[in-house]
Amino acid sequence: MVVVVNDINCCVRLNNHQLTVLIFDSGVGGLSIYQELRVLLPYIRYLYFFDNEVFPYGESSHLSILDRVNSIFRAVCRYHKLDLVIIACNTATVTFLETVRSCFFFPIIGIIPDIRLGIRCTRNGVVGLLATYRTINSKLILNIINRLSTHCNILLLSASELVRCVEDKVLNNKQVSINLLYEIFSPWLSLSKKPDTIILGCTHFLHLEYEFRLIFQKRVCLVGSSKNLAYRIACLLKNSNMYVGNIGVKTIENQAYCSVITDTVFMQWSLVLYRYGFSSLAEISV
Ligand code: DGL
Repeated sequence: MVVVVNDINCCVRLNNHQLTVLIFDSGVGGLSIYQELRVLLPYIRYLYFFDNEVFPYGESSHLSILDRVNSIFRAVCRYHKLDLVIIACNTATVTFLETVRSCFFFPIIGIIPDIRLGIRCTRNGVVGLLATYRTINSKLILNIINRLSTHCNILLLSASELVRCVEDKVLNNKQVSINLLYEIFSPWLSLSKKPDTIILGCTHFLHLEYEFRLIFQKRVCLVGSSKNLAYRIACLLKNSNMYVGNIGVKTIENQAYCSVITDTVFMQWSLVLYRYGFSSLAEISV
């Protein structure tokens, strides 16, 4: 077949299609990964799915989330051809990443708390891991801690209730109660040697950096995984030639989806999603 085209970009587009990447979380947590990725890989079409019907995952049973996530990916596949899926939820990743991977043909990448980086950052040898109950109690995380924490003390704290506070903060501009934070952190605050490094093992908690610094003072080192994960994904896509930059698509429509939409959901989320550069919000029922 001979194709005559004048526009170099069109030429490239014949050989390369625009990548579609689905970022998935129970709520607003995964937006941090989306934000990092968008800076590194701007010419991708991003889809964001938040499972507001079942949120929060940290309080659900293992099997119910696994079935749920399987159904969500299948449902999204009815509308979009996915090149990559990112599970931007530590709770979901630590619970069943391997199982869910074996059910789909597209690559699936998950986020987990960056324990290695936390250990590298500590100066006083005390590192705190803050995550949902499910993440803190997962075999995967306990194995990683046993393997890596030979020279430092890793303190675990589950704070599933904070996940709801973050949604309220981001969607309803509601301040997170500082008293509640003092209460949650009291096991660490009462120690003579407090953690000088806190691993944020839940993507939602990245929205609470300001509050955490108020409680633990500015110098505390907060370790999230989004930046590193985004960087690694960018390297992976560029090295495998899957990402070739601008292929001549004039406007990139990033779309958001949720599992249930009501007027309130639409109002709460529209402004936030608009700020993150999404052009639409729709329901995909699961
Ligand atoms: N963002 C999810 C995580 O990283 C939140 C979990 C939840 O929905 O409870 O674990």
